[in-house]
Amino acid sequence: MRTLIAANWKMHGDMSWATKPTDFDALLPAKDRLSIDILICPPLPFVAALSGNAKAANVFVGGQNCHAQISGAHTGEVSAKMLVSAGADYVIVGHSERRAAGETDADVRLKAAAAQNAGLVPIICVGEALEVRETGGAEEHVGAQLSASMPEDTQNIVVAYEPIWAIGTGKVASVSDISDMHAFIRAAVGPNVRILYGGSVKPVNAKDILNTENVNGALIGGASLEMESLAEISKAAL
Ligand code: PGA
Repeated sequence: MRTLIAANWKMHGDMSWATKPTDFDALLPAKDRLSIDILICPPLPFVAALSGNAKAANVFVGGQNCHAQISGAHTGEVSAKMLVSAGADYVIVGHSERRAAGETDADVRLKAAAAQNAGLVPIICVGEALEVRETGGAEEHVGAQLSASMPEDTQNIVVAYEPIWAIGTGKVASVSDISDMHAFIRAAVGPNVRILYGGSVKPVNAKDILNTENVNGALIGGASLEMESLAEISKAAL
């Protein structure tokens, strides 16, 4: 299974960041990373501009969200098909920052199916809040999220486990917590789905995380904004 190193830029950057895939390629040339996939998910206005440079650098591009419909009267929204037309290959769906703003499992499932129909690989995010983990309910919570958020066809999906309390906080789940949760998710999704870990992944902890069983890559926020740090994390996957 190919490791996927996925950068989630969230709401950071500007048009000048469209050259970052070229910078990344200079730090870690494509010929030296044949066994792993690199993905950058920039803010929407930069997807198209990034995708040309990304293709030349052997880097995939993705959206951070999509709508469940192909087109229509949905002001401010973007469809999976539009992302494809802008050069995207993947889309993140159900990130906890969007779930916190009201996105439900049912929404996430529809978005994931729409992504698949358009030819995108959806990265379906799941993860528990701190109080859920502290009361011992993490697996039950993640299991319920997964079964309600995954589309019927699980052929071409990626799942990202991102404990909410580890996102942007500098707190990383322990290797044993990651290992337990990823084994639990593996049992639910089968052998062929890539399972990413996300939550304060940095160059300093990437090797331990990426060497954990059933961890098939990482979804990286803060540490993905600088190409030096994204390249260091990627090297840990080689
Ligand atoms: P972080 O974000 O790496 O900054 O914790 C991860 C994410 O939200 O995908």
